[in-house]
Amino acid sequence: MKLRKLIYAGLAAAGLAAGPAHAVELSIVHGAIGKDNEVLRAELDRWEKQTGNTVKIVSMPESTTDQFGQYKLWLSAKSSDIDVYRLDVVWAPQLADHFVDLNEATKDIQDQFIPSTLKGQMVDGKLVALPMFIGAPALYYREDLLKKYDRPVPKTWAEMKETAQIIQDGEREAGNKDMQGFVFQGAAYEGLTCNAMEWIASYGGGNFVEPDGSIDINNAKAAEALNMAASWIGTIAPEGVLNYKEEDARGVFQSGDAVFMRNWNYAYALVNGDDSPVKGKVGVSELPKGGEDGKSAATLGGWELAVSKYSKHQQEAIDLVKFLDNYESQKERAIVTSRPPTLTAVYNDPDVAKEQPFIPLWKPVLDGTLARPSAAAKRKYNEASSLFWTAVHNTLSGDGSAEDNLAMLGAKLKRLQGDAW
Ligand code: GLC
Repeated sequence: MKLRKLIYAGLAAAGLAAGPAHAVELSIVHGAIGKDNEVLRAELDRWEKQTGNTVKIVSMPESTTDQFGQYKLWLSAKSSDIDVYRLDVVWAPQLADHFVDLNEATKDIQDQFIPSTLKGQMVDGKLVALPMFIGAPALYYREDLLKKYDRPVPKTWAEMKETAQIIQDGEREAGNKDMQGFVFQGAAYEGLTCNAMEWIASYGGGNFVEPDGSIDINNAKAAEALNMAASWIGTIAPEGVLNYKEEDARGVFQSGDAVFMRNWNYAYALVNGDDSPVKGKVGVSELPKGGEDGKSAATLGGWELAVSKYSKHQQEAIDLVKFLDNYESQKERAIVTSRPPTLTAVYNDPDVAKEQPFIPLWKPVLDGTLARPSAAAKRKYNEASSLFWTAVHNTLSGDGSAEDNLAMLGAKLKRLQGDAW
């Protein structure tokens, strides 16, 4: 027995610690980016101290699409190796059967959560996962460069393109050959689904599957949005953006080589971190509108904690999930990683407002996000999303027109839907 376990066993025997008589070792899996791992480790260390149990972090690749593939392998093999899974906000309807119902265990704390975050994790009355943090993207911009070129923060995508081009050209001429106008998540994966949904919704083109399950993506507004995005490639965005995920875009922007970036909230703490070359030069605004009569659209992101049905230590795992989602953990996460909390009260915490003003500022955007159609497409969501991002990626790559690709997408989605989602 390790010394620490001996001490805890001793304390427990003496009635001094509430830890279990038999300490267990748990595994938690998550796809860490930015400072996620650092904060999670610190939180796990605290829980270990309180309980005498230990927790191992299993790290995943950055792409949520890759994580999904790996999770499905473990879950379909009913593996007991992983106790706690961090799930993407869209996965509950597809993976519900593999997780413990958290309803009973969280009855006493549910009213502290933003109601929509819990609702999104309910599948047929079962609470599949407890929301850890949410996300709504921002348009990150270089305040110093907008000032230098006397340009306002763009309100429409057309304005964004114009400004990006002016500053990119000007900066390249002045010697920064690597300057890019705009970077985003253009690789063929779930991140592109999030980006493209925003473009299309901002033009009034709807969603790839509507909330009622119907399919109307083959429309002129959606085509206009995709044509606009395709016009960025090789002009204000590098060709390489077609392989960018979140961290690729952040890398370019944080090095000082992009005027604008679309990214999630986590990037804020990093681009303003002490070691960031653009610290103090970055502003955030809502994503641009489709046109003067369009709107700004932000896709809902976020991650949840779920306990595997195949875990041999479900009680301890549930306790850990509650601990990681408690006020102290969420506050720490908000301050260190600028991850928006799922507990309403943390938005009003004065320390959070002081250290991360982005969090309270972003509350209205988070409240008005656009959900991906995972509830509508149910078990077929990932396939539907993959058809969508493929059509978008082809269009951005110059492989077929937006109109043709959307027509094909519409037909494929209808085939996938069949008689019912
Ligand atoms: C972020 C979001 C997640 C989304 C992913 C796409 O991690 O929180 O919901 O699926 O980005 O890349």
